[in-house]
Amino acid sequence: MSLRSLEVWKKLEAHRDQLVTVPVRQLFAEDPARFSRLSLRMDDLLVDVSKQRVTTETMGLLAELARATGVEAARDRMFAGERINGTEQRAVLHTALRRSTPGAVLVDGVDVMPGVVAGRDAFLAFAEDVRAGRRTAANGARFTDVVNLGIGGSDLGPAMAVEALTPYGREGPRLHFVSNVDGAHLDETLRVVPPATTLFIVASKTFTTQETMANARSARAWMAAAVGESAVGRHFVAVSTNAREVQAFGIAAAEMFGFWDWVGGRYSLWSSIGLPIAIAIGADRFRALLAGAEDMDTHFLSAPIDANLPMVLGLLGIWNANLLDIETHAVLPYDQYLRRLPAFLQQLDMESNGKGVRLDGTPVDVATGPIVWGEPGTNGQHAFYQLLHQGRRVVAADFLAAAEPAHGLPAHHPLLLSNVFAQTEALMQGKTLDEARAELTAAGLDAGEVARLAPHKVFPGSRPTTTLLYRRLDPRTLGRLLALYEHKVFVMGAVWGINSFDQWGVELGKVLANRILPELDAPSDAAGHDGSTNGLINHARALRRR
Ligand code: F6P
Repeated sequence: MSLRSLEVWKKLEAHRDQLVTVPVRQLFAEDPARFSRLSLRMDDLLVDVSKQRVTTETMGLLAELARATGVEAARDRMFAGERINGTEQRAVLHTALRRSTPGAVLVDGVDVMPGVVAGRDAFLAFAEDVRAGRRTAANGARFTDVVNLGIGGSDLGPAMAVEALTPYGREGPRLHFVSNVDGAHLDETLRVVPPATTLFIVASKTFTTQETMANARSARAWMAAAVGESAVGRHFVAVSTNAREVQAFGIAAAEMFGFWDWVGGRYSLWSSIGLPIAIAIGADRFRALLAGAEDMDTHFLSAPIDANLPMVLGLLGIWNANLLDIETHAVLPYDQYLRRLPAFLQQLDMESNGKGVRLDGTPVDVATGPIVWGEPGTNGQHAFYQLLHQGRRVVAADFLAAAEPAHGLPAHHPLLLSNVFAQTEALMQGKTLDEARAELTAAGLDAGEVARLAPHKVFPGSRPTTTLLYRRLDPRTLGRLLALYEHKVFVMGAVWGINSFDQWGVELGKVLANRILPELDAPSDAAGHDGSTNGLINHARALRRR
């Protein structure tokens, strides 16, 4: 199916051509109810999309697009356990992991819920045992440090969530995350953790990922040297779907927390991959995180399109990416605890929707996944916001902020909040040439100086932003926000008709790296690649020999 040939797409293009001539500030002036019309709520969570370059007519057309592309039916198929990941023949059921309501969730006629409940109980009980000192190190001492060895979805979600919930994890052990195969990452961590009271979690869905297995082998050797081979077992557990490889590595079956092939890596923090989060914040708070995600699942399943948070954000993503040709999406948390959210969302969005073909193998006829990036405010303001305000490229952005701080320096909070509101106001309002001239004239500059400086003081405005404002970043709120983004990505993938749940694009580099690895230390120079790759390998070989 060609999106461009849909009737509603043509309507959207015509509507876009009209709308882009109208500054968003004018839309506010013409409609005093614009904010209430274009902001959505879930309890204390307010999602304000009124500063996007849209009107209620745009939202109506986008809802029509969602219906024309079958987004609701796709959503229902996902929740129902159908094998919607067609290239891997898998169901996609991260939503089952946070389900608390009774009732079966069937994959090929088999209810997955008893396994979900038992698996969740097992890893949460283990987390509580570690926190309470019931599960100890080999010497009988309480674990002071926990190191998660994983990468991609087996790292980014837990690392982001543990940091996001720092104020809720102060009594637990210290958490560390090592992902990079660059030995610097593990080495620097091993320098600060005491081996006698450190627990390693080897987290890998496949248990074959090169980076994680290299880190696990080095960590195991380091631990064996410190506590002795016979004690190593007390210091390692695994989280995986691959029991055979876990046992081959030397971790007993009883020390492995499993999950299922229908949990995608980047959607896995709700499974036993969330073990580090549970160790950090405890089982009850982990359950609150799940409950927050379930709130969003229920809402996504039941709210009408125009009042449905993930639908609205996903459809705005399509509008910005495909109708307004905005290539990048900035994630700007005015919440230091969400420092790692941009990195998490990069994988979630770009690994899910960075695809060029539809499920049936035909090309998508519009641009797909946006480039996701970001940094916490206010740091970003002093780095890249210049381009957001006055650059020729338009960047869409999400701003996130808590009304109440979760830290102990509340006097800072009004400073933070005034900045987040000021930035979205400035990005939307902009400043015209006439306004810039008037300002300079009022400041007493002569006519020549006014004319010279005014163009530099112009802000185009109408730069689209969404603000997500919540009371406090607690586990339940974090659960809601993360599930909101998961489903937003789903909605965009469903409109494009792509499979958001495979990641073939990551494979080619892995295969080539395995081919190059032995060549680095082979007796003769590499000759089997293109000139550049041969040249780089051979230069590294020469430098390493010296
Ligand atoms: O980067 C590719 C990928 O397969 C991700 O999708 C996944 O999250 C990551 O590698 C880690 O995989 P695993 O959990 O199997 O080690």
